[in-house]
Amino acid sequence: MKVTFGTLTVTRKSKALVKEVLKSNRISSGKYVRTFEKMFAAVVGTKEAVALSSGGDADALALAVLYDFGARRQDEVIVPALSFVATGNSVLQAGFVPVFVDIDRVTLNIDPLKIEAAITKKTRAIMPVHLMGKPAAMDEINRIAKRYKLYVIEDAAEAHGAKYKGRNVGTLGDMAAFSLYVAHIITTVEGGVVVTDKREFAEILRSLRSHGRACKCDSCVLNLSSGYCAKRFKGGRNNDIRFIFERIGYSSKMNEMEAAIGIGNIDEYKNILEKRRKNFKYLMAGFRRFRPYLATIEEESYERIGPHAFPVVVQEDADFTRDEIVDYLERSGVETRSLFSSMPTQCAGFKYLGYRTGDFPNAEYIGDNGFHIGVHQGLGKAHLDYFLGCVAKFLDKKKKRLSYE
Ligand SMILES: Cc1ncc(COP(=O)(O)O)c(C=O)c1O
Repeated sequence: MKVTFGTLTVTRKSKALVKEVLKSNRISSGKYVRTFEKMFAAVVGTKEAVALSSGGDADALALAVLYDFGARRQDEVIVPALSFVATGNSVLQAGFVPVFVDIDRVTLNIDPLKIEAAITKKTRAIMPVHLMGKPAAMDEINRIAKRYKLYVIEDAAEAHGAKYKGRNVGTLGDMAAFSLYVAHIITTVEGGVVVTDKREFAEILRSLRSHGRACKCDSCVLNLSSGYCAKRFKGGRNNDIRFIFERIGYSSKMNEMEAAIGIGNIDEYKNILEKRRKNFKYLMAGFRRFRPYLATIEEESYERIGPHAFPVVVQEDADFTRDEIVDYLERSGVETRSLFSSMPTQCAGFKYLGYRTGDFPNAEYIGDNGFHIGVHQGLGKAHLDYFLGCVAKFLDKKKKRLSYE
């Protein structure tokens, strides 16, 4: 049996739309991107969605919006020490300095009790990550942000479909960045999107994704290709608007083929989400018996975890290593991924910031002892039982007694 990490659903509708796009000869950002944006905004429940070329860009561009609101280059952004590396990279790519805060080892998310100590006069924003789809402690984070007048940008890359106290993840801060990479619940294969309720933020994002162009209205891309910006210039000649740049920008537009795949994917979103939730909850329940040796995240009554993947952390008392169990699983046909790293102390690129091993004990522990497996829509009960059986066999080989024994 093979338990794969990921899958890709390309629906019939997506295929038909991709064909249409190719026939139309209009492949760079246009009407399908705008349709996708409207559909994505409706899924999350925000007024605006701005489609981009990756989730990493979504993080970076959301941060870069802050320059229009008084932020300066080299100001600081607080992020959790543990995340997929794109979170830290994006802060640097946007021209800010990441200030890392350790995580809570149970939730895998930024420890809200450690945030205030990291705030300085240069802090402009907090970017919590909802790792593995588990919502960060947003009430506490928003309270701190309000007290210190900081922006909150959710890195919701892994949190499609997650809810926190009755509200959708993605609506809990000033902006939220989602990844649409193939491993994620809504995918355009490669892609990202920022959602927000503030029209002004969305307009700036539209400018940022197109090199910082002056025109940032939502029909901008279409009209620029014909040399006009109907919205801002009321249909007048517009030869130079193409080359007026109001801010430092990026080249980060989504293209029509990606949007076409995304549109078909959103049609299937509810089914995909339901299937993945079922898989996730089945594994969560099945895993309880491994508890003294292996832990996963828990779902609180006030939240709904977005079923991105299934994390596992080898516990201190286990007296076997993550690599031992991962090797066993891989040899048995279960694909695994590590559970990321402490960016400041376990990712070489961040070394120059001067953090030392031991500064983020919880993030480092997960970096050394965590892994995750897929819960995607292509997996069924047989796959999940097989995985649980492999874990039980491994523990049996290690002479570990399970809690139901
Ligand atoms: C937490 C987090 N942030 C950002 C990203 C970046 O997304 P992308 O790979 O689409 O650039 C990812 C990717 O999975 C992620 O997991």
